[in-house]
Amino acid sequence: MKSMLSALLFSAATAILPITLSAQATSYPDKPPLLLGAAWYPEQWPESRWDADLSLMEAAHINLVRVGEFAWSTMEPAENQYNFAWLDRAIALAAKHHICVVLGTPTAAPPAWLTAKYPDTLRVDENGVRDEHGNRQQFSFASTRYRQFAHDIAEKMAERYGHNPNVVGWQLDNEYAAPSFDPEAKAQFHAWLKKKYGTIENLNQHWTTAYWSQTYDNFDEIPVRQEGENPGLLLDWKHFVSDTWKSYSENQISAIRPHADKRQFITTNTMGWFDGFDEYVVHSVLDIAAWDDYVGSQYDYIDNGARHDLARGFKNKNFWVMETQPAFVNWRPVNAAIDRGQVRDMAWQAIGHGAEAVEYWQWRSALNGQEQYHGTLVGADGTPVPVYDEVKQVGEEFEKVGQALAGTAPQSAVALINDYDSRWAINFQRHNRNFDPVAEMLAFYTPLRNQAQAVDVISVRAPLDKYKLVVAPGLNVLPQDVAAHLLAYVKQGGNLVLGPRSGMKDEYNALHIERQPGPLVDALGGRVEQFYALDNAVPVNGELGSGTASLWAEQLSTKSPDTHVLLSYGPSNGWLDNQPAVITRKVGKGSITYVGAWLDAALLAKLTSSLLEQSGVRPVLQNVPEGVEVCQRTGAGKSVLVLINHNQTAAHVDLPQAMTDLLDSSHVRRTSVDLPKYGVAVLEM
Ligand code: GLA
Repeated sequence: MKSMLSALLFSAATAILPITLSAQATSYPDKPPLLLGAAWYPEQWPESRWDADLSLMEAAHINLVRVGEFAWSTMEPAENQYNFAWLDRAIALAAKHHICVVLGTPTAAPPAWLTAKYPDTLRVDENGVRDEHGNRQQFSFASTRYRQFAHDIAEKMAERYGHNPNVVGWQLDNEYAAPSFDPEAKAQFHAWLKKKYGTIENLNQHWTTAYWSQTYDNFDEIPVRQEGENPGLLLDWKHFVSDTWKSYSENQISAIRPHADKRQFITTNTMGWFDGFDEYVVHSVLDIAAWDDYVGSQYDYIDNGARHDLARGFKNKNFWVMETQPAFVNWRPVNAAIDRGQVRDMAWQAIGHGAEAVEYWQWRSALNGQEQYHGTLVGADGTPVPVYDEVKQVGEEFEKVGQALAGTAPQSAVALINDYDSRWAINFQRHNRNFDPVAEMLAFYTPLRNQAQAVDVISVRAPLDKYKLVVAPGLNVLPQDVAAHLLAYVKQGGNLVLGPRSGMKDEYNALHIERQPGPLVDALGGRVEQFYALDNAVPVNGELGSGTASLWAEQLSTKSPDTHVLLSYGPSNGWLDNQPAVITRKVGKGSITYVGAWLDAALLAKLTSSLLEQSGVRPVLQNVPEGVEVCQRTGAGKSVLVLINHNQTAAHVDLPQAMTDLLDSSHVRRTSVDLPKYGVAVLEM
C-alpha cells in the first residue's frame, strides 16, 4: 500500500501535481447523497441511554455519527487489552436507526497508561517543556514508539470494522496541530535536511549562513526552532512538519487500508486557514478532504465560503464538513450564539460550496470535561435544546433535495492561489505587522466571489488549464518550476494576476537575484523597483478609477513597450508619486497583471470586474442583491442553484428562466424567489 501511495504523492518542494484533477462529486453508493450528522460519544454514557439518543437523532433526520476519536482509554483500557464490544454494539444500534458511522482513530488522546509508561511519546514544546496527561494532543507526532501504538490501535479497529457495512469511512486522529521539539523530532529534522541538501555546504549556500556566522559544520548543529531563525531554516522546518504529518497519516493508513473495504474513505479533519503545515502535502495521502467549520460568534459568510472553497481545493473535489457548531462554541472570549436561522444558513452554504455531509459537534456534552459549555443538540437532561428543531429542518431538506444534488459539484472558471510557502515566508517577516496573507487573499476573494459567484481556492502546483483567470494574491515564494507552470498557463491563453510581494523568493526562502516578480519579470515586461510598507493610505488612480492603497505599495516600472499601466500612485512619500501601481501585459493568447499595492475594496472590485470581463467570466445570475449568495452545483446532467440570503432583511431575486423549487413539496416552477431573512432556496435549472 505504502509504495502505491507514495507513487501518487508529490514532493512539496519540487513537483507540479502529476495527476490531472478536475472538480468532481464524491459519491458513496451505500449512503444518502447528503448526510447530516453529529459527533456522538457513546463511551461517555451508560448503554441504557444510547437508544434514546439515536432515536432523537433519527427523528431529526440525522443519518451519520462520528464515533471513537477520543475513546482510546475505553478501547484499550490497559496495554494490549482491548475492549471493542461496546463499540460493536454502538455501531449496530446506530445501524438500527439508519445512522451510518465514521470511525475516528483515537490517537489525539492517548491513554494515561501509555504516556506514564512511555513518557518519550509525549510532545515537547519549543522551550523544551514536556506535555502531560489531562488534555489532548499531548503526543509527539514524530515518535516512533507513539506511531507503533497508533498503528496498532488503528489496525485493531480496521480488522474489526473494515468490512462493517455501516462504517462508511475513517477519520485519522483529530485536527493535527502542534509539532513536537523532542530529541527524536530534532534528529529527524536533521536527517530530513541531510536528505534534502546532501552536503552541509549545499545547505550553507542556500541559507546564506555566512550571514551572522551561521555557517554549520554538520547537520546536528542546526537549531530546531519555529521563530526568529534564518528564513531558510524556518521554511524547511515547515516542510519537515508537513512531511511528518503526512507520514503520521501514512502510518495509520497502512494499518487501516489492508483491512478496509475500498468504499470506506480515509480522511482527517482540518481547520480552515490554519497554516501549521501544508495541507496539500498531507491531503496527497487522503481520500477526501474534511474540515471543521467554526465561525465562533461572527458568521462572516464570505470568509466561511472561502474556507469551504479551500477545503474543496485540497482534493479538488467535494468534501465533508466533519464538525460545525450548533449555534455557539466555548472557546471564544464571548461565546455568543449565531442567530436563529443562521445554523440552517451555514448548513446550506456548506452544501452550496460542495459539502456532501454536515456534522454537528456535538450531540450532547459530557457531564464533566473541558467542554461543558459548548453548543449541543440535546441538553444535560438528554432532551432537545432549541437549535435541535433548526437542525431537524435541515435534515428534512437534505432528504428532499439530496437526490437532485447527487453527482453534482461546484465548477469555477476562476482560481485563487493558496500557497503555504508564501504565507509562511510573509508571516516570518511581515515587514508591516498588519500584512496578514490570509486577509490579503480574502481581499481578492471577496470581489471575485461576489462578481463571478464561483471561485476555486487551489495550490499553485495544481493543474490550471480549466481556469480563465488565476489570481495569486501574494505569491512571495516563486520557484523556477512554478514560474514555468504559470507561464505555460499564460501562453495557453490563461490570465494570471499576481498580487503584492509576489516573486520575491526562491524555494529556499532566499531572495531571487532578480527584482520581483523574479522569474516572471521578462514575461511581465516590468518589475518592482522598490517595496514600501505603508503606515498611511496612499492615493491611487488611473483608467479604472480612483482610490487608495494601504499597508503595502510597490513602485513598479515597465520595461516593455506593450506593458500597460492600469493604475498609478498619487502624491505620497515622494518615492511612489506618479509611479505605476498596477501593470499588465498580453503574453501570447493570455496575459499577466501585477498588482503592486493593497488596494481599497472598491478599487480592487473595479479591477477584478475588469479582469473577469477581459477573461470572459460571467456570473451565474445577474443583479443579485448584496448579501444574497449564489452557489451552483452541476454534474450528472443536472444544474442546481442554492441561493442564500445572509441578510437580516428579506431579499428578492429574479431568475433568468423558470426553475423548479426543490424545497417546495409541490415542486412549483418560479421565475423569481423571495427570500426571508437568512432564507434559502434550492432551484433546479
Ligand atoms: C474542535 C475539536 C472538537 C471540539 C470542537 C469544539 O473542532 O475537533 O473535538 O473540541 O473543536 O468547538
